[in-house]
Amino acid sequence: MDAFTIGGDLEVRRLGFGAMRITGKGIWGPPEDPEGALRLLRRVVELGVNLIDTADSYGPEVSENLIAEALHPYPEGLVIATKGGLRRTGPGEWPRDARPERLKECCEASLRRLRVECIDLYQLHAPDPEVPYEDSIGALKELQDEGKIRHVGVSNVSVEQLAQAREIVEVVTVQNRFNVVDRSTEDELDVCSEAGIGFIPWFPLAIGDLARDGGPLDDVARAHDATPGQVALAWLLARSHVMLPIPGTSSIEHLEENLGAGELELSAAELDEIAAAARG
Ligand SMILES: NC(=O)c1ccc[n+]([C@@H]2O[C@H](COP(=O)([O-])OP(=O)(O)OC[C@H]3O[C@@H](n4cnc5c(N)ncnc54)[C@H](OP(=O)(O)O)[C@@H]3O)[C@@H](O)[C@H]2O)c1
Repeated sequence: MDAFTIGGDLEVRRLGFGAMRITGKGIWGPPEDPEGALRLLRRVVELGVNLIDTADSYGPEVSENLIAEALHPYPEGLVIATKGGLRRTGPGEWPRDARPERLKECCEASLRRLRVECIDLYQLHAPDPEVPYEDSIGALKELQDEGKIRHVGVSNVSVEQLAQAREIVEVVTVQNRFNVVDRSTEDELDVCSEAGIGFIPWFPLAIGDLARDGGPLDDVARAHDATPGQVALAWLLARSHVMLPIPGTSSIEHLEENLGAGELELSAAELDEIAAAARG
């Protein structure tokens, strides 16, 4: 599978891994099977994945701690992308908090948990309506100037917010919700494709719905002896050269299946057919 270079110096395989699903239910607390989560993370790297997406809020802290426990000292070329800017108050609860002073504390805590001196890619998880966006982005710029962050990414942004952030700092990735049945952030994707900014679509499998039989991707999947989830991911990879899907799973079997999408070649007619079928 082909690669993409984030920020001019971080070359990653275009199918990454989302590490939000290795925690307890509601992305809260430890996973039911911590040893299984460690095995899964080691398998991710064994299979050649070198982009792992996480956040301080996954668990909270649990996902970052498991990544360090499973993989530190990190193999050469592994990019761990983390995020700050959300608080956790309980299972399924994610209030925003992107005050500059808090982002700095969060970044310091992620550095400690991940056991690194510099985070390769630090993403602002979401704009905080209580804080001017430029102030939150300015805090990341300061962390970058101090050498604590190598590259800055943003998440859950509009075209306008992305432009605002790019006035302050070089933005190397955008992480927005996007998949074949939810293309509501297509405008932001187009800006990224044009500018060579990595686009990390979250919910690439629509929380697993697209990986199940009985949906709009079945026909194309059958024709390729593939699974619907593989078709959903292959469609994303074909949609733009900057697309970096990070399917999340707690299962080695699903991980291996998802990575198979990198080998799947769909014709232009099939890509159109999938897009039309998924619109319903
Ligand atoms: N920036 C943001 O605001 C934001 C928000 C949400 C997520 N994210 C990031 O994006 C990543 C991806 O999103 P996501 O994990 O929520 O959604 P997703 O990748 O669309 O779907 C994950 C769900 O699909 C299931 N699944 C995965 N592969 C499967 C397969 N081959 N067959 C059947 N089921 C499968 C998983 O269950 P199993 O565990 O059973 O496989 C899991 O419940 C996250 O891990 C996180 O890193 C970012």
